[in-house]
Amino acid sequence: MSEKIKVTIDGIPVEVVPGTTILNAARQIGGDIVPPAMCYYSKLEGSGGKCRTCLVKVSKGSEKDPRPMPKLIASCRTIVMDGMEVQNITSPEVIEARKGVVEMLLINHPLDCPICDQAGECHLQDLAYEHGSEATRYEFDRRTFEKVDIGDKIQLHMTRCILCYRCVFVADQITNTRLHGILNRGDQSEISTYIEKAVDNDFSGNVIDVCPVGALTDKTFRFKNRVWFTKPVEAHRDCGKCCGKVTLWYKGNEVLRVTGRKDTYGEVEEFICNTCRFDKKATSDWVIEGPRNVARTSVINSNHYDTMHPLPVIKKDLILMAANKVEFEKATKD
Ligand code: SF4
Ligand code: FES
Repeated sequence: MSEKIKVTIDGIPVEVVPGTTILNAARQIGGDIVPPAMCYYSKLEGSGGKCRTCLVKVSKGSEKDPRPMPKLIASCRTIVMDGMEVQNITSPEVIEARKGVVEMLLINHPLDCPICDQAGECHLQDLAYEHGSEATRYEFDRRTFEKVDIGDKIQLHMTRCILCYRCVFVADQITNTRLHGILNRGDQSEISTYIEKAVDNDFSGNVIDVCPVGALTDKTFRFKNRVWFTKPVEAHRDCGKCCGKVTLWYKGNEVLRVTGRKDTYGEVEEFICNTCRFDKKATSDWVIEGPRNVARTSVINSNHYDTMHPLPVIKKDLILMAANKVEFEKATKD
């Protein structure tokens, strides 16, 4: 086994195996010092490097070469070096840059959370709360698209897509056939029209779980309820195609939807098949294990079993302090 190397993130040291990214080193520490990730998904090879929400500052490159990195870098794509020192929520520069990234993502993404099925579980909604400004400075028309049905169970609302590529990686890696990708570049980019051809692969429903926003939604659940009014329950069944371990989302006695079990980073523990997701909505189909803790801090936590986070207050305070520092420096510059 290779020797571990030491990296310090926001003053907290951790030892990791060589080849670990800064983001994954931070995840080993856990808590609020972990950078947000809108495009990286640990279960999807090659993901990351698209959204820039995970930017961090490397204040010391390594023990051998302690020079800081000249620019903020994407933590999901940068490998740690021995002795590296990284700042995330302790850096005012990072907080300011992240605020800019969120503003950029919101240029085209509508703030239609009140009518969006992803509300309560949306990573962009959380980031907007944390870093977003109240008004947009964008003066041009936003991109809008017609909604597209991808088969009879999934709907694509491209207007909300942030082009994170996660669904493309799912199509590429989880299903046997790649049925869609991203066409064109820049402002013209969109999930290609191939996606309109029904994605009838047994695992295609996983694009719903990996989408960080409400661009890909479950048509069997659309507008049925707000997620914070539903009760998540862990259940399993003997499935010949997938692990059969899911979360059932109940309203009263009715199972409104079935999803993979999501961790504190909003990633599923294991991908599930379409039969489990769409066709097994009776309690009798499942062996019930018990209530599912909502591991991720989001709007959904109201009304739900919550997992305690180690540093719940510190993050808000640090972000506030960093933001105040930027404002203070701006105000006292002249
Ligand atoms: S549809 Fe969702 S998962 Fe796919 S690229 Fe857009 S935001 Fe990402
Ligand atoms: S999560 Fe790192 S660039 Fe998107």
